[in-house]
Amino acid sequence: MAGVPVASDPPFDRVDAAFADDAVGRPVRLRGWVLRARSSGGILFLVIRDRTGSVQVTARKDVLGADRFASVEHVQLEASVRLAGTVAADPRAPGGREVRAERIEVVHQGDPFPIFADQTEEFRLDQRHLVIRSQEHVATFRVKAEFLRAVRQFLDEEDVLEMTPPILTGNPAEGGAEAFQIDYFGRPGYLSQSVQLYLEALLFPNERVYAITPSFRAEKSRTPRHLTEYLHLEVELAWCDLPDLLDFIERMMVDTVHRVAQRRPKELALLGRPASELLELAGPFPRMTYRQAIDRLKSQGFPVHYGSDLGTAEERALTLESKLPLFVTHFPAALKAFYMLRSTDDPDAVEAADLLAPEGYHEIVGASARETDVARLVERLTAAGANPAEYEWYLDLRRHGSVPHAGFGVGIERVLRWLLRREHIRETTPFPRTPSRHTP
Ligand code: 4AD
Ligand code: MG
Repeated sequence: MAGVPVASDPPFDRVDAAFADDAVGRPVRLRGWVLRARSSGGILFLVIRDRTGSVQVTARKDVLGADRFASVEHVQLEASVRLAGTVAADPRAPGGREVRAERIEVVHQGDPFPIFADQTEEFRLDQRHLVIRSQEHVATFRVKAEFLRAVRQFLDEEDVLEMTPPILTGNPAEGGAEAFQIDYFGRPGYLSQSVQLYLEALLFPNERVYAITPSFRAEKSRTPRHLTEYLHLEVELAWCDLPDLLDFIERMMVDTVHRVAQRRPKELALLGRPASELLELAGPFPRMTYRQAIDRLKSQGFPVHYGSDLGTAEERALTLESKLPLFVTHFPAALKAFYMLRSTDDPDAVEAADLLAPEGYHEIVGASARETDVARLVERLTAAGANPAEYEWYLDLRRHGSVPHAGFGVGIERVLRWLLRREHIRETTPFPRTPSRHTP
């Protein structure tokens, strides 16, 4: 196609180049996708997006020539294009700039784009591979990537080392009931629910370790906060007790949320969550014991007693009115995993805490000091219906230079759901896995 950019031409610009202070009057070469298109009286108005944003492009029949104008006039939404033009100031265009095209090439015209407003949620989930092109999804996954970067930065500065534990395992870490079982060459295998047990092994040579891995939970819970596959940040620290651990978690949450707010204000604004709100997050986070939580819930009329699990309604009630996350500590051992350390001053309770997000957004972190007594671990494994023989390697860790240690796990999508105030956790992950869906 004549007049189309060729390889020997100067390199392409990014869309945001059109918004630089000195861009007006400059030539630009852009490539991207058609976000909007309309034609009126021999002028084609396009909005072109690339990874840096979107800009209005106008193309005139008298500039392009009738043939070339006809070849782009009926361009589809999401068609891919390359163009060359000049940046102009135009107060009517979004951002006050437009690109006046001198040449346009449709790289791929494509079929009519099937996504538009007011389609059902089921249809949109079926079309997820296309729906994720939306501005909201782009902004969401940038904020998510920023949170992961902030976490890695924080942990690096705290001298915590990133590890790569396995996801295929013979030992379900959080109780077999909710593990996805697989056929591992004729033997039972599981998809990881948590890499904690491996991080505990890695802690002895490294003292401070973390991993960011997918975790799998075969729970049928259809709630707005459960996925069957989620991204799990887990940290394990030697020479650490529960109060030290809670201080660490608090610092990490404040620091990482602030970094996200500082680096992604545009995306946060687009998603309706002003960065200024997130910058207000500050410690100390309130802490209450499970017993205190039960008393408070009773006084609010909830039918709970010591030993009740905190269900959806109870967890929500504890933070609904709060602007700060809340640590609930010292749960009864019977409610919690086998590896949690028994409290010395309350023998029914474990040195554990859940961090509940503000405004009723539920548990985002599960934390505990770890049991170091082999006999008690065996007893707790047995009580949980597991076979201690299968955990011999884990028990070995308590036989060779055992130390007090503690750790926690953060559901990355749970945090994002709270930060972005999303109704459903699926909006925080590109291809959500739930009991009813594992495609596309
Ligand atoms: O509380 P959990 O089950 O704790 C553990 O797995 C520990 N082994 C972690 C550790 O100490 N290393 O899970 C940790 C966090 C929860 O607080 C929650 O944020 C998230 O993982 N989570 C889920 N997120 C999305 N969908 C699910 N089905 C989740 N289950 C847990
Ligand atoms: Mg938990």
